[in-house]
Amino acid sequence: MLMIDIIKKLTEAYGPSGREEGIRDTIKKMIESYADEIIVDTLGNLIVRKKGPGKKIMLAAHMDEVGLIVTFIDENGFLRFSNVGGVSPHLLLGERVIFQNGAVGTIGCEKLESMKDLKFSKLYLDIGVSKEEEAREKVNIGDVAVYYRNCETLGSRILGKSLDDRIGCSVLVQTLMELNEPANDVYFVFTVQEEVGVRGARTAAYRLKPHYGLAVDVTRTGDTPESETMAVSLGKGPAIKIKDTLIISHPAVKKIMKEAAEKEGIPYQLEVLERGGTDSGAIHLSREGVPSGVMSIPCRYIHTPSEMADLEDIKNGVKLLKGILNQPLS
Ligand code: CO
Ligand code: ZN
Repeated sequence: MLMIDIIKKLTEAYGPSGREEGIRDTIKKMIESYADEIIVDTLGNLIVRKKGPGKKIMLAAHMDEVGLIVTFIDENGFLRFSNVGGVSPHLLLGERVIFQNGAVGTIGCEKLESMKDLKFSKLYLDIGVSKEEEAREKVNIGDVAVYYRNCETLGSRILGKSLDDRIGCSVLVQTLMELNEPANDVYFVFTVQEEVGVRGARTAAYRLKPHYGLAVDVTRTGDTPESETMAVSLGKGPAIKIKDTLIISHPAVKKIMKEAAEKEGIPYQLEVLERGGTDSGAIHLSREGVPSGVMSIPCRYIHTPSEMADLEDIKNGVKLLKGILNQPLS
């Protein structure tokens, strides 16, 4: 299977926080024949082991994506909703969304005096019905919709929904497929509920008690017009996280990552993310502490229906990860 086909399959799958069954099955089918051991834990994390003689390494990429949860159905069949994870109401006008059962809808807005009044409470979901009873045949309170978008390739750039963090999941899948006899004992963890507070990674790290933790996730860039300053660009290689809101990366992990990148001749960037966090925020605080870091894939327009990443960064991410896992660690 080509990397691009893995990415397409994973980004187009349904799986908001707490409803990861579908995406988990998709990943499980892809990796089954490459794994030494597969566990689905209590919260729904997919834990895939590839045995090796060295240190126990926990890799984490979250399967969940942001979504919209139905809070109310009115007598005319219009749905009110709230966010699951970081969604901005400004992104939603005219957006098309899909539920787990395949029901599709679009988002409309009440009349507004000013765009400043654009809040979730002013938005509604239209699923093409005209009565509450008809709506209830398709959806219920608590059902979650996600962006309904195909994954497109624009040259070496990839455009689609949920690149955060199906890109990370794709990197883990591809790495597992290419890893023959790793020098370390590797646990590929596809986590749940990252977008609502790095919850799955917390219980998985407790269970695994790893020597090292490494999250693979996307990070924002500073390379678009008038963007907030950020020393990360698309196409300049995976980023080695220095700090974000939830972690200050462990020096031992940064060293391992830099040495592997230099040894393999892989371009990399250094990342300080002023707002945001990843699964490593939970992993490094597990038990008595786990030396942890993050390999980030640069990504524009995070949490929008059209996130953009560069295929070269993704491929270099796989190379870097392989370099790390194949080197004996102390
Ligand atoms: Co996210
Ligand atoms: Zn993420």
